[in-house]
Parts: sequence; C-alpha cells; structure tokens
Amino acid sequence: MNLIKSPLHGNLRANICLSLLICAGIATPLLRADTTSPVPVLQIKAGQAAGKVSPTLYGLMTEEINFSYEGGLYGELIRNRSFKANPTNAIYWSAVGNAPVSLDPAAPLNDALNTSLKLDATGAAKNSPAGIANGGYWGIPVRPKTDYHVSFYAKAANGFAGPLTVAITSADGKKTFASAEISGLTGDWKKFDATLTTKNVKPSKDNVFTITTAAPGTVWFQQVSLFPPTFNGQANGFRPDLMQLMADMSPKFLRLPGGNYLEGDYINERFDWKKTIGDIAQRPGHRSPWNYWSTDGLGLMEYLEWCEDLHMEPLLAVFAGYALRHDYIKPGPDLEPYVQDALDEIEYVSGDAATTKWGAQRAKDGHPAPFPLHYVEVGNEDWFDRSGSYDGRFTQFYNAIKAKYPQLQVIATANVKSSVPDLIDEHYYKSQEEMESQSHMYDTRPRDGKTKVFVGEWATRVGSPTPNMAGALGDAAWMCCMERNSDLVVLESYAPLFVNVSSLTPHTGSMQWPSDLIGYDALTSYGSPSYYAQVMFSNHHGDEILATDSQNIPTINWQPAAKRKNGVEQPRPAAKTVQKLFFDATRDRQSGTIFLKVVNNLGTPQPVKIEISGVASIAANGTATVLKANSRDDTNTLQEPKKIVPVTEKVKGLGTSFTRTFPPYSITILELSAK
Ligand code: AHR
Repeated sequence: MNLIKSPLHGNLRANICLSLLICAGIATPLLRADTTSPVPVLQIKAGQAAGKVSPTLYGLMTEEINFSYEGGLYGELIRNRSFKANPTNAIYWSAVGNAPVSLDPAAPLNDALNTSLKLDATGAAKNSPAGIANGGYWGIPVRPKTDYHVSFYAKAANGFAGPLTVAITSADGKKTFASAEISGLTGDWKKFDATLTTKNVKPSKDNVFTITTAAPGTVWFQQVSLFPPTFNGQANGFRPDLMQLMADMSPKFLRLPGGNYLEGDYINERFDWKKTIGDIAQRPGHRSPWNYWSTDGLGLMEYLEWCEDLHMEPLLAVFAGYALRHDYIKPGPDLEPYVQDALDEIEYVSGDAATTKWGAQRAKDGHPAPFPLHYVEVGNEDWFDRSGSYDGRFTQFYNAIKAKYPQLQVIATANVKSSVPDLIDEHYYKSQEEMESQSHMYDTRPRDGKTKVFVGEWATRVGSPTPNMAGALGDAAWMCCMERNSDLVVLESYAPLFVNVSSLTPHTGSMQWPSDLIGYDALTSYGSPSYYAQVMFSNHHGDEILATDSQNIPTINWQPAAKRKNGVEQPRPAAKTVQKLFFDATRDRQSGTIFLKVVNNLGTPQPVKIEISGVASIAANGTATVLKANSRDDTNTLQEPKKIVPVTEKVKGLGTSFTRTFPPYSITILELSAK
C-alpha cells in the first residue's frame, strides 16, 4: 500500500526557496512567505478506503522515572516512608528539636520493611518538643478545606506515655495548617491513623509533615504515610489532576511497568511483580534503574486499577531474563522460573478467581473480576543484549505463553528468527527534523500479514523538561505517519509520560530524562504542546484510513549533525531534503465525518488546496481544531500552563475543493461532513 506519493517532485522541489540557517546540524528556515512556490495540493480519495484505523492505536507508557509515581502519580506525599532509600541514613527526614534520629535495623517492622526510624526524644519537654519532619517530594502540598490521611506504625520504649502530635506546618514552622494527637503507643508495633483537615488556607507547597512529642521517651516508626484526596477517593490511589490529564487523552492501553524499570540494572532489581502486591506494609520496595528508591506502593494491582479507572487495557510487559547492565539468564532450564513467573503474572491479571491460584490471589487483593488482557510484551529493548540470547529467550516465553494462552498477542522487543512474534516493539527518540524525515517510513514497509508494529516508546526530543512547539510539530508529523499506517502500526505510546519539574539539578534532581509529556510539582501540573497534540490525535479520528495523494509539498534542506563514535567525530552525513507539511485523512464510517489532519511545520502561513473525491458532497460548514504557536520554541510551563492549547472554531466555505491557509507552526484537524 502506498498511500502518499513521494512529495519531492524534482521541478517543484527546486521552486521551494526557503532560506536556511544551518547551525549545529539543525536547520531553521527564515520566516519568509514564499510567494513563488506553487500551492500545495492535498487529495483525499474518499472512495478508496486504504485500511482500518486501529481502534487501540493511542495508548500510554510510563515507568518509575522522573519521579513519575513516587513524587508524581502515586498519591503518597512522604518521601522515603519506609526508610529504605538509603541503607545507613534516614534521608529526606530531619529531626525536630533536640532529638537524635537514626535507622534501626535491629527493630524491623517485618521481613519486608526490615528497618525502622528510631527517635530518641528523651530530652523532649513541654516547651521543647522533639520529633521528625519530612519535606515530601519538593514540598508537601497544602490545599484549603482538605482532608489528609495520616498512617504509620510505631512502638515505644517502656515508660513512654505519649501522646504524639502529627501536623502539616510551613517549612519555617511558623504556620500549622492542621494537627491531630495520637496516643496508645506500647512496646509492640501497632498501626495508627489520623485525619488532618485544613481550614480555608491559601494553596502552598513549601511545607513539611511532622510527628512530635512533648513527652520524653524513645519511639520507633515505620511506613509513615500521608495521603491527600485521591482520584475517585481510592485508598492508596492516584493524584487527581494527573489522572484527569491522562483521561483527556482517551488512552486505549497502558504499557506497564516499563521501560528500563521492568528490567532493573541487575536481575535482583527488576520489577519483581510478586513483591509488589498485597498489603503495602509487606512490600519490600526496590531500587529503580533511574537511581532512586521505589516503595512499590504503586504495584501491579495499582497499575491494573489505574487501567480500569481510565477504561484502558493493560499491555503487560513481562521480565524476560535480561537486566540493563548485561546481567542475563541463558535460555533453557535456568530461564524456566522466569517464564513461570510471567505465566503466573498473566494469570494474576486475567485468570478466573474461582479456578486459578493467581486469579484467587487477585480476588484476595480486592479485585475478583479478571482484567481484560490481549497483549503481552517479552522484555524491553532487548537489542541491547549483545549476547544474542534474546532469540532463544523470546521463543521460550513465546511458546509457553501461546501454549497456555493462545489468544494472547505476544510482542517482541528485537528481531528474532526462531519464532514469529505477533508484534514488534519499535522505539524512536529523535529531533524534529529526524522525525519529519522518517515520517513516511511505514508507507512503504511491506505488510507480511504476520508481524504488526507497536511503537512502544517515541518522542520528538526538543524542549526540556517538557517539549516545546517544535516537539509537538515533529510528533504530529510522526503521528500522521502512524495513523495513516495503522493497519500495520496498531499500538503507539509516547514516552516518557511524566516529569516532576521541581528540581532540574542533574543527578540529584527530579528529572532523569528531558522531554516528557506532562510536567508538575507538588501542587500543580500542565500538559506540554506535545501533550495537546496527543489529545487532538487520539480524540479525532475515524475508523477508516482514506487513500491520499499530494503535490507541491514544501521542503527544506537539512544537514544532520555529525555523530561521535568512541569520542571521535564521524564524517558529516549527507544533507537531507525534509518535508515541512504533513497530513493524513480518516473517516468515521457511521457518521461520514472525514478527519483531515494537516501539520504546517513552517514559520509562514501556508495556503493549501484540498480536493476530495469519491463523495457526493462535503457540507460547507465544518470545524477546525488548531494548536499553534508564534515560535517553535514556545512552550507551556507551570507558570503558563495553557499558553499553547488547541482551539476549536467553526469553519465555512468547505466543499469537495477548497483552499485553506494553515497558520505558521500549527497542527490542524478539520472535521468535514461528507455525503
Ligand atoms: O523512556 C525512557 C527509557 O528509554 C526507557 O526506560 C527505555 O526503554 C528507553 O531506553
């Protein structure tokens, strides 16, 4: 299937006279309308359906990176609540008053939470309370008239009568927003709960959570937790603003749990799903390969509930015996326990509660109904495994999964020879020009009818911490390509989804990976221009891909930057001609609505002639949803969260042939009513 002719017709290409500024491998066209170029023509052949739009095309991919869960989506406000983030120090905790605070592995809560925080408050008195304080993930957010749920385990040395005071205060200790008293501590571990309710205060985040006492004594703590209201009021749940941003994307699936986070740096740091279910006080937690601690409070069940909340399906990635630092298990008997773990995991997600062991465990964990499951991915980016073991590892998993669950679609993450995967997961992290220059690659990819494509991670990486308009334009060009070819590319998910933007200090800050779709701090959040491009594409498409053609598409010359290999700069690659106008068309068969997406990546207004054949008529009135910016560098931030958002307007003068001028740096979706 060739849905679009090569846009680079020789004589026309010569006519396109955009001046270029070539700097560090990036071409920037000067903002000058080219009146000599012929008007681009887009033809939509509505009589020729070129395939079906995959109903599951648009999905989500996340993992524990950039404080996506802890310090992000997962509601918990206390950082290092189980004191395992560092083996020797109670990092992110500080003492209140004159009170030595230390880790005490000799007083564990249980085998999973095998240490505790010891507060030596023997010097505490009425006028000099002693205690512990936690500043959360770059602040504890305080909102007006809000309930916060406090819980913790504690025990005390003989003679301590309490009480303890739990409170949220300003970081300087001058303002107390809410407090409560807790008594009844004994020499044995016991769980305590309290609710802190704020008054009509101003929202703020430069705050801390404290537990103090005015009575002298020694107290041990474990699993100290503070939850604000969560999405749908779910216990151990999610941050509502981030859930709403995702809900607005209408995602159809969630690729979970990663990414590198699935694999870990070493095999014992993988996402070991059996250790992430059940009572959160029994989850040991583990180090994320992004170099910080995860309590696994957001474990497998929470991922599944998140899917259910947003009406999407899990796309389950199973650990395939390879960790990031080339730690791997050879195919064969040694790999069998990992294959069994994957089968158990599939059963936990989708097995019957009455007749299967892991289905029964899921019911015990609070969810008797099985979750829908169609896709299982074996590993992540296994092309990094230079040992060549993936072929054998994949096939061992594939055979076992297909034998027990023949209905499941099994996804490979690298090319294999000894079996035929149902899908292959391809990842693309690129510059704007690279995305644009590959935006026809699937048009000519042979359809063998066997292996479909899952673009499981991709992003135009322009802009940090979140992409700017250049990123959104590269993304939109690429999404036109995926949608136009979604008979082949049946699933796609941008990555990474989240970034906590509170501290952008390299290594110790809140961001490990620049260019992420959604940014936030402890209090507020925003979607990047790329986020809004996703929202637009995901919410505006039909179920049928229409054949298209084009002429006079504008292009620029682009000089890719030279690559470095082993510290040595390689010869400059040849300059490329890169298209700057992109489009695709789909139709909703029931209503007859045609969705035409047009992406103008130039800094000049672009008149385009649109011709629609194969329909009796097109109504004169329609709508246009437009995302645009004054410059490629424009972006959204916490301070200006809605600087670039899509605007929908009514459009007149449509028909089977019309000309429309698309604004500079814009993504437009035209909805046309066809008869
Ligand atoms: O999305 C960030 C990382 O990029 C993922 O963890 C990994 O799969 C890829 O290399």
